[in-house]
Amino acid sequence: MSGFETVVVESDILILGGGMAACGAAVEAAYWAKKNGLSIALVDKAAMDRSGAVAMGLSALNQYVGIAAGDNTAEDYVRYVRQDLMGVAREDLVFDIARHVDSTVHLFEKWGLPIWKDAEGKYVHEGRWQLMINGESYKIIVAEAAKNALKELGDDNIYERVFITGPIVEDGKCKGAVGFSTRENKFYVFKAKATLAAMGGAVHVFKPRSTGEGFGRSWYPPFNTGSSAHFTIAAGAEMTCQEVRFIPIRFKDAYGPVGAWFLLFKSRATNAFGGEYMVERRPELQKWAPYGLVKPIPANLRNWLGMLDIFDGKGPIYMRTEEAIGRLAEQYKDDKRAYRKKMRELENEAWEDFLDMTISQAHLWAATNTKPEERSSEIAACEPYFIGSHSGASGAWISGSADLQTDETRDEYCWGPYGLTTVPSLFAAGDASGASSHKFSSGSHAEGRMVGKSLVQYVLEHNEAPVVSDATIESLKAEIFHPMEVFEAHKGDTTDPNVNPAYIRPRQFMYRLQKIMDEYAGGVSAAFATNKVMLDRAMELLAFLREDNDKLAAESLYELERAWENRHRLAQAEAHVRTLLFREETRWPGYYFRSDTPKMDDDSWKVFVNCKKDPASDDWEMIKRPIYSIID
Ligand code: FAD
Ligand code: ADX
Repeated sequence: MSGFETVVVESDILILGGGMAACGAAVEAAYWAKKNGLSIALVDKAAMDRSGAVAMGLSALNQYVGIAAGDNTAEDYVRYVRQDLMGVAREDLVFDIARHVDSTVHLFEKWGLPIWKDAEGKYVHEGRWQLMINGESYKIIVAEAAKNALKELGDDNIYERVFITGPIVEDGKCKGAVGFSTRENKFYVFKAKATLAAMGGAVHVFKPRSTGEGFGRSWYPPFNTGSSAHFTIAAGAEMTCQEVRFIPIRFKDAYGPVGAWFLLFKSRATNAFGGEYMVERRPELQKWAPYGLVKPIPANLRNWLGMLDIFDGKGPIYMRTEEAIGRLAEQYKDDKRAYRKKMRELENEAWEDFLDMTISQAHLWAATNTKPEERSSEIAACEPYFIGSHSGASGAWISGSADLQTDETRDEYCWGPYGLTTVPSLFAAGDASGASSHKFSSGSHAEGRMVGKSLVQYVLEHNEAPVVSDATIESLKAEIFHPMEVFEAHKGDTTDPNVNPAYIRPRQFMYRLQKIMDEYAGGVSAAFATNKVMLDRAMELLAFLREDNDKLAAESLYELERAWENRHRLAQAEAHVRTLLFREETRWPGYYFRSDTPKMDDDSWKVFVNCKKDPASDDWEMIKRPIYSIID
């Protein structure tokens, strides 16, 4: 594409993404890079101040261990996470993040994030691991610290509104990344000695519940479209837990989170007839022993119990907000003024929870005259998302720290500094790294800091400038802008630009992907169930869709971004379906149910299922990796 200027950026370290993990990596890597005279470039498809899952702000820090105060230990956190994921967790990774996360939280506070405190000056907990915050400006505060740290190394090292399309891979090594500006006619080539993929998880791979006028609304932010998964898969990295999608239960239609209601307000959820599925369905948990029998009940099993009510026609399920608020205010009933004050305080907390994090839910409450202190709200299971940092686990298979390995784990779990993928010089963190769930915003930042240090260590040990052939660059450039050429070449073939025998527009491509995933891979309309026959059919249809990759057409830079987002989603979808097919059991029934293998089978399947695509042949390999426990 002659109209696009090629901009080459060379740095020692390349950070892809500007979210929680990337900001953590920037802060830590900049500190060590300055001491060692190294350079860093950071690239975000959006503006760091409001990019990624924390764009709107958050209302809690979901991972705080409280080690110094003696509240919990990092070992306690490992027990919690492996339980929640039905035994499937890399304990070395979870432990590592848990032992470092508190210091990240203390940094947030130092940088100006208001964390709620009680009368004695102690943090107010939402639940055992969660701290309440006034988090509307959370992302701005975290991004500011990252930008200030990078500024210490020079003025022009942050590239915002540059969309990364994929890696530069030669000789089995990641030599950087390519992408394009979403505002200017520029093709970017980033060459680096070490690269971090931290571009979040994926949404809109599955058809969302919100279609038509509500399209675009989802729990997970629409800006994260599987770029991390695509990037690491395209580089040839081994991926893990690609079947472990996350299905959150959320306030229906505007996707408001439930954590504050269940944990802080201690609300119940009941069905249309007043029944409480968490109580009435308890015997079902025996089937999922030992994981179903310990508290807290794993997130997927909590979903499952609610889903059973829905399957029995007992929906909708309600969050009993009015009951919870009423109970919390009950003790003030005898004193009218104190009661009014308490009610006002609880109302404020209820609204602020959403105004800080999921503003659309506050809009929906307002639009439907819902007063949470008077009326329950419907909750429902969302469409599946891919988010390795929350209660899902999908991501790249990364090296753990050497000091945490045992004789048993060393060969399987450690081959370099923390965060290194199986591809030389490519690292992953946050949603991009797998098998270490429940890191959330604070743990992702902490993991980013750990990887930031690793990146510097790696460059000091492998200090060779990457040499990339012109042929590789030219072919990547041609591939990136191909959709614009397709549009230009064929736009005159028909009178309606949306109907054309020579091309498919990104939105049409996405709808097709979502329909395949929804109907065959256990989406909302399939009631989250699937089986081998359905998954085989999904594979067949995905192969047809892949054939149309080359026929994607883009009228503008904006649409080019949409085209690439959907290519990235397709990579995530394919890894997911292949892994669903491979794991012949049902382990997380509230995330997906394999109706042909409906039981959990610890003997054969208490393993990590990993997968890898050969970048040269496009052949996939499925791999079983052992789960070793390092904590009792
Ligand atoms: P993100 O922070 O999402 O960052 C991804 C970055 O990659 C963004 O900067 C994005 O612009 C960039 N990017 C994506 N694609 C590309 C590309 N192709 N090229 C360049 N850049 C790209 N955690 C909590 O601790 N407490 C909470 O209360 C909480 N509530 C949540 C509520 C919601 C609605 C959601 C969605 C998440 C919530 N989380 C919460 C989880 C938390 O937001 C994530 O765990 C965390 O943001 C993950 O960090 P990350 O860096 O991996 O991804
Ligand atoms: S958020 O990321 O969108 O805010 P969510 O509201 O589900 O997520 O959860 C916030 C925190 O509360 C997470 O740590 C989650 O694991 C926890 N949580 C939510 N509901 C429950 C529950 N019923 N029991 C135990 N923990 C819960």
